[in-house]
Amino acid sequence: MKIKPSRKIRGVVAPPSDKSITHRALFFSSISNGNSTIFTPLYSEDTMRTLNFVESLGVKIEISGGVLHVKPPSKLHEPTSPIDCGNSGTTARIGMGLLARETFFSVLYGDKSLSKRPMRRVVEPLSLMGARFDGRNGGSNLPISVRGGHLHSISYTSSVSSAQVKSSFIFGALNADGISSYVEPNQSRDHTERFLSQFDLVKVEGREIKIHPGFVPHFKIKVVGDFSSAAFFVVLGVIHPNSHLEIKDVGLNPTRTGLLKILKKMGANVEITKMVEDVEPYGNLVVESSNLKGVEVSTDEVPTLIDEVPLVALLGAFATGETVVRGALELRKKETDRIKATVDILSQMGVEIEEFDDGFRVQGGRKLHDAKLNSFGDHRMAMLASIAGVSAEGVEIENDKCVAISYPSFFSDLKEVIR
Ligand code: S3P
Repeated sequence: MKIKPSRKIRGVVAPPSDKSITHRALFFSSISNGNSTIFTPLYSEDTMRTLNFVESLGVKIEISGGVLHVKPPSKLHEPTSPIDCGNSGTTARIGMGLLARETFFSVLYGDKSLSKRPMRRVVEPLSLMGARFDGRNGGSNLPISVRGGHLHSISYTSSVSSAQVKSSFIFGALNADGISSYVEPNQSRDHTERFLSQFDLVKVEGREIKIHPGFVPHFKIKVVGDFSSAAFFVVLGVIHPNSHLEIKDVGLNPTRTGLLKILKKMGANVEITKMVEDVEPYGNLVVESSNLKGVEVSTDEVPTLIDEVPLVALLGAFATGETVVRGALELRKKETDRIKATVDILSQMGVEIEEFDDGFRVQGGRKLHDAKLNSFGDHRMAMLASIAGVSAEGVEIENDKCVAISYPSFFSDLKEVIR
């Protein structure tokens, strides 16, 4: 993909629907006591993995335009073949929580990237509940087999702040023999807790999440826009010298919008022009060209902007002074090592960036130049490079098709705002 620099950025962006919420809606509707309806789900490679996952367990799904009608069987069936999770960590990890509830035998596998990602973090708590796993490297990596059922309630303190791990635990705990408890070091996205709190299946008491076993009642849900997808346009609007963008109907769950706090500290022109409080809050944003100053991001902030941390490096390149991120070791365990990939992409464009074990330091103010870059097959890296290129002197990106993992219409949406 060749990206040209642009003189002017204008327009309205309606970001695609939220990936995390679509995955969860599919999983919840599969263990529900009746038929559910999901309005405006995200259709992307990752969410289709989850859709196929639950279909292989006997869930019937009718796709009718922008609506999914989900009919779960009275009891999930044993899949007839191993389940392919592709590139999707959310499918594999939350999926393991769902399979841990079932006495039947199942096997999960994924692509090269997913096969390298850590699974011990979900295998451990679910094993403590009584599910049995086996897999590569002692059950730490896919392919992994699961045989579950008859789960015990446990109290568990996780060593990672991960919404996938937390949600996987909650899926298991909903089918355990008593009330379970879960604590994570720092708050990660809370879509699962918000959804289940509506039915009193989950109670959040400070840092502790209590899970009461029970059925998920059938439901209707409308999926809001994905903040992490919108974030590429938010950052484009801020770093580009001649821009004005409106972002419509984007999810504004505070456990997802850490980037907005960072932007505020940097002095960015970003305004929330509409805010609707709902189970998942959402609204509109207006962003404009900004004079940015460097910022420090702390460890406890990282989970609320985990997928946007690479964008902070790009913001730092357009800011005066230094931008430092620490405590972001988790970034090395994503679809690719995102610390290494961010440093690689931005340094090739002329950014002064230093790599740390758990983050980076960017010295702002240098002019970015064009480059030929690799996305490393990671959707968010391809989009980062594109935004950088539009705002500087262009880029050529190898391996750009991966944007379809989370944002299939990314390049056409980008084209729309380039004037
Ligand atoms: C996700 C949680 C995050 C995020 C991923 C989706 C989710 O991962 O990076 O893109 O849907 O729960 P962790 O919570 O494991 O860091």
